[in-house]
Amino acid sequence: MKKKIEDINKELDSFAPSNPDEVEQFRINMLGKKGQITLLLSDFRDVPSEEKKEIGQLINLLKNKAIDLIESSKISFKNSSSKGETIDLSLQQEIIEMGSRHPISLIKNELFTIFQKLGFSLSEGPEIEDDWHVFSALNFPKEHPARDMQDTFFIEKSPDILLRTHTSSVQVRTMESQKLPIRVICPGRVFRNEAISARAHCIFHQVEGLYIDKGVSFADLKQTLLFFSRELFGHDTNIRLRPSFFPFTEPSAEMDVSCKLCGGKGCSVCKHTGWLEILGCGMVDPTVLELNNIDSKQYSGYAFGMGLERIAMLKYGVKDLRLYFENDIRFLNIFKNYL
Ligand code: DAH
Repeated sequence: MKKKIEDINKELDSFAPSNPDEVEQFRINMLGKKGQITLLLSDFRDVPSEEKKEIGQLINLLKNKAIDLIESSKISFKNSSSKGETIDLSLQQEIIEMGSRHPISLIKNELFTIFQKLGFSLSEGPEIEDDWHVFSALNFPKEHPARDMQDTFFIEKSPDILLRTHTSSVQVRTMESQKLPIRVICPGRVFRNEAISARAHCIFHQVEGLYIDKGVSFADLKQTLLFFSRELFGHDTNIRLRPSFFPFTEPSAEMDVSCKLCGGKGCSVCKHTGWLEILGCGMVDPTVLELNNIDSKQYSGYAFGMGLERIAMLKYGVKDLRLYFENDIRFLNIFKNYL
């Protein structure tokens, strides 16, 4: 009997299963109905009574050792088979940070919504343009100092290919391609050869507006701009128009809105004038209509153009233009709550 116990003990010591099936086989072989340890227990009856105590203890130890061995082998196979797939429900979920819209997009979307209410639709044109669409068709005479108003990035000379300096070029493209009446707003990037500072950049965004129909007057322009300014800056906003010059409009004006910060009383933002300049506008010069094959005796129109960075600066209190282009997450996060 002792010899049998010793042999089985050796078998337990050398047990090294390579898969769960071998563990199960081993269990049946040791502890199953006809297992070696089970048989030892039934043979125990025949052990002489003076040896019973000693043999009984040995068999119990052997049985417990076999059970421990089988259980620990099962556990180790279970852990290794589920490697990589373990689902730890207590793990902290990774937080997905919501992004924000860029302030220029916010302003652009807001302008769309306002002008859509007045029946304006969207029109877009290329950033790489020719002399005709940016200057000549807008009544900038060749060699005229008006061209110096906007320092241009040229890509090629004669014929002139250049980066558009204003979105007024889209007015020309729209007059070429659309039937009258025309009522569009044209957003886009523009480029000027300027030194970069807190107040100027060589790339910025403009939105252009153009309305051409029979009987369009300056009063229509003024009413449209008043509606737009009040929608954008609040219903207590006032506007004023100052005479100005643009080659493509006659008469031309620059428009100021009453300063929201001081309520028109004067502060450092409005340079103590109570007014902030936000756009250029005017009646489309009849020469421009004719240059674009529109009969200026039948049709008239107005146009306006504004810089989006400047409007976003006023609306959101941004003090440095360069912030719009740096993609600094701390700056962009400020706009998380705007839609
Ligand atoms: N194109 C002008 C600029 O970039 C802005 C402008 C002024 C646009 C008057 C217009 C306008 O349509 O009528 O400075």
